[in-house]
Amino acid sequence: MKTLSVFTTLLAVTAAKKCIVKDTSAPAADDVALNSEVEDVAGADDVAVPSDEEIVEVTGSLEDVEDSSVESAEETPKKKLPADFKWGAATAAYQVEGAWNEDGRGESVWDHFTHLYPKNVESGDRTNPDSTNGNVACDSYHKFDEDVKMMKIMKANHYRFSISWSRLFPDGEAKKVNGKWNVNEKGTQYYNMVIDTLLENEITPLATLYHWDLPYALHEKYGGWLDYRSQDDFAKYAEYCFETFGDRVKGWITINEPWVNCVSGYRLGPGKAPYRCTGEAPRKLQNDTTGLDLEGGCSYEIGPSQYYKGAEVLPANRAPQRLEDVWCSHNILIAHAKAVNVYRKKFQKKQKGLIGITIDGEAQIPWQDANTTPEELENNKKYANLAAEFRIGWYSDPPMVGDYPASVKQRMGKDMPVFTPEEKKLLKGSSSDFLGWNTYTAHWAEQVKNEDGTYVQPPTDDEASFETSKQDMWDDNCRGRGEGWSCIPPTLGSQAGSSWNTKYGPTIRVGLNWFADRYKGLIKNGIIITENGCAQPNYKVSRANDLVTKEYFESIGQPEYADTYDESIIEDESNIEGSIINDEYRIDWYAQYLENLRLAYAEDGVDVRGYMAWSLVDNFEWENGYETRFGMTYIDFYNDDERTRIPKKSLEFLGQWYLENVEQA
Ligand code: GAL
Repeated sequence: MKTLSVFTTLLAVTAAKKCIVKDTSAPAADDVALNSEVEDVAGADDVAVPSDEEIVEVTGSLEDVEDSSVESAEETPKKKLPADFKWGAATAAYQVEGAWNEDGRGESVWDHFTHLYPKNVESGDRTNPDSTNGNVACDSYHKFDEDVKMMKIMKANHYRFSISWSRLFPDGEAKKVNGKWNVNEKGTQYYNMVIDTLLENEITPLATLYHWDLPYALHEKYGGWLDYRSQDDFAKYAEYCFETFGDRVKGWITINEPWVNCVSGYRLGPGKAPYRCTGEAPRKLQNDTTGLDLEGGCSYEIGPSQYYKGAEVLPANRAPQRLEDVWCSHNILIAHAKAVNVYRKKFQKKQKGLIGITIDGEAQIPWQDANTTPEELENNKKYANLAAEFRIGWYSDPPMVGDYPASVKQRMGKDMPVFTPEEKKLLKGSSSDFLGWNTYTAHWAEQVKNEDGTYVQPPTDDEASFETSKQDMWDDNCRGRGEGWSCIPPTLGSQAGSSWNTKYGPTIRVGLNWFADRYKGLIKNGIIITENGCAQPNYKVSRANDLVTKEYFESIGQPEYADTYDESIIEDESNIEGSIINDEYRIDWYAQYLENLRLAYAEDGVDVRGYMAWSLVDNFEWENGYETRFGMTYIDFYNDDERTRIPKKSLEFLGQWYLENVEQA
């Protein structure tokens, strides 16, 4: 029998309570570097796992959260987030727009691959031809006004959306000939409408240039991100956007989550477009795999490609398949830097906007159980930092400091691409305006031991390679819950409605401190949480995993890390009014993460300047189709051609949270 303590949550009033904070005053809103007064932040070196007294039990109804059980744990009135805090929700073009072939839009890799392999996408209704792709999605292309109404409910002052590259440049190649761009004018009109509508509603646009929907023509032409030519094609497309929309758009995100784009799209095979893989066993698909070449590794062949001009590390002009995600990452990071360079040189002075990258990655929490010795804990803290460097720093160091972390280079050995001196120069500081971070869940990290009790050592320089580094990384993290990358690592908290997504609020605070500590003085306008949110648990994922979570944490003497829930909040399609619209689990998620964000700001002095909830509306959740709902607005995708928007309780909750926790000008 399941024992359920409703929403037993760890509000780590102190994931970082051990930190000695000299000055808790907030950083000034303008142009200030990250708070350097924090003496000992809860970065990877000093993450305090909450003790029993520090665990606050919160019961999960909206009322209770609003009553703010959190407050009782604090003696002084809450310090609020500043009045200019960027507050809003996020979406991405392919997930919401629809109109996939309307008004001259070109195909993206997502159109192409969802059409080619519809069975790769989950769907509860395969008689509905639009259920396995973004052909219609939320139809935001025609219903943007409806989306704005939803933003109002949460009191958004910002909206993060993405621009579909192939809607503007159907074949991906932006060119200016005789002063005129080869653009699809209808595409421009659409984004002009989006931007103007937002501004009329006093909502500031935050535009992402690339959220995984690469023009398919570029994939066919040279293998997309696998080829160095993608760098300049991206920078040209970006230039068009700055020139055309930059008079009104003052916040630009170049790339969304390069890690997911490259690792899922080019390493793991089926799942995310363009469905390439490294030749490892691709992860199993639950549905029919007809048409997917699971034996041969990659599902699709592309023509010969020069991965990278002048690369000496590669004997041929094409990277081995096993390194595709590494080279995709390399090219995409340089593409980001080139786009930033264009903005800085030609537009920023006049337009006065800010530009940065959005990276993803779970904060790494040092492993600790009842048997962990202080010496082991110290070691695990070091390992947590190494794991974070590998998982996050790989992508955040280049745009901050101009190169990959030394530990990543060491672990990857000669398989690691090398930035040229010019590229390093372009990269360094290319996200110094702000850093976008998408955060969802947390991972444990530890240095595992051999049977004889000695530590497993990282590979030596000679042994270091792509295989050893990745294997080491993921196997360590996956201890006890499966094997290889495809396991759910022993993450903390309860299982939300997506396999990889667990709720553990303190992770946001730990991660924010990790960035603040690592890039002290280097980020001028702070960190923006560009995505955070959850799918309400549903019947598919919740029950088994919840048991695992609870029993697992009890078995290691750490029951407080389990976050369980009542069956009545499990999402049930037949109970729209109840579990879907009245989304208590999601409300509790937001309450926990936002409180930890506030604490990072108020107590740790982290310069965090914004929060974009994922997502404004239920939408096309990539390979999970419409079956996994991250939205704060309900849409019936299978039966309602009108795509009527029905606000969920969480949308109101966020509006209320904003009023209570952000200074009102
Ligand atoms: C992010 C991604 C979003 C959305 C979200 C929830 O990684 O940027 O597009 O899908 O995850 O899965």
